[in-house]
Amino acid sequence: MNISDSPEITLTSNTIGITVHFGEHGMALLHKIGQVLTTDLTKDLKFKKNQAEDLKQTTFIDQLKKRRSIYVLGKRVHLSQVYLAELIQEAVRSCPSAHNSQSTCIVILMGDAHHHFWNVVKEVQRKLTPAHIFAGAELKVDQCSAGFGTVLFYEDQQIIQQLQKKIPFDAAEFPVWSEQVSGMAQYAVWTCLADAGLGASLQHYNPSIDADISKVFEIPKHWLLRAQLVFGSIEEKVDEKEHYKDEERFMIYA
Ligand SMILES: Cc1cc2nc3c(=O)[nH]c(=O)nc-3n(C[C@H](O)[C@H](O)[C@H](O)COP(=O)(O)O)c2cc1C
Repeated sequence: MNISDSPEITLTSNTIGITVHFGEHGMALLHKIGQVLTTDLTKDLKFKKNQAEDLKQTTFIDQLKKRRSIYVLGKRVHLSQVYLAELIQEAVRSCPSAHNSQSTCIVILMGDAHHHFWNVVKEVQRKLTPAHIFAGAELKVDQCSAGFGTVLFYEDQQIIQQLQKKIPFDAAEFPVWSEQVSGMAQYAVWTCLADAGLGASLQHYNPSIDADISKVFEIPKHWLLRAQLVFGSIEEKVDEKEHYKDEERFMIYA
């Protein structure tokens, strides 16, 4: 029986919910509804309790600590390229920037594009590195190529120059803030990828690769490459990090 069909039951909607008036037959129904409601509420409370427990188990700090430099990366990634691209973009969008400059621009490389990128890096390294140390450099590049994708972090120099003109008082600061903004975006993406269960490491083959990469991937002339974050499945975990003594790094006045 549909509740609203019963002549003994009136349902009155108000702003905070529904007021229910029951007749004799309605009591039986109330009992039934009561059981349903109790069951649902119990489930709801249980769900909330689990959520609270989850929150206790994984704090934001835990999420931050999950991010490490992972150098042995693989392609065993079960997230779609579309999902990963959106995740990376959303991480960058979430970042603050000086005067809301939004000067960080990124290029996401996956599949063939990722391999093409690391081939270009290898060729540049071959030209620049003395033959006797190239083998080591090549190994490092191959390790990156074994990953699933690479995020290139650029800073839009046009935006920075425009802000320098608009606010001459801070002209000298904008390039510094641009580096800080880029670092924040790098960290946000790196941490998001870690949260998604992926490993990553930050690389700096710029500026030697800039010209070749700009040509291959048709990068706008006013974008300046700052860092490369290579990511993929975690094929080898890293050891716990050692820290300097707290008193050497932190000062607290209260
Ligand atoms: C600004 C910056 C530049 C870095 N550059 C490189 C790099 O060029 N190559 C590399 O292998 N790791 C690089 N790293 C990674 C650091 O070596 C690493 O973060 C550090 O050893 C701490 O380890 P963790 O990332 O596991 O916490 C860089 C990290 C930062 C923050």
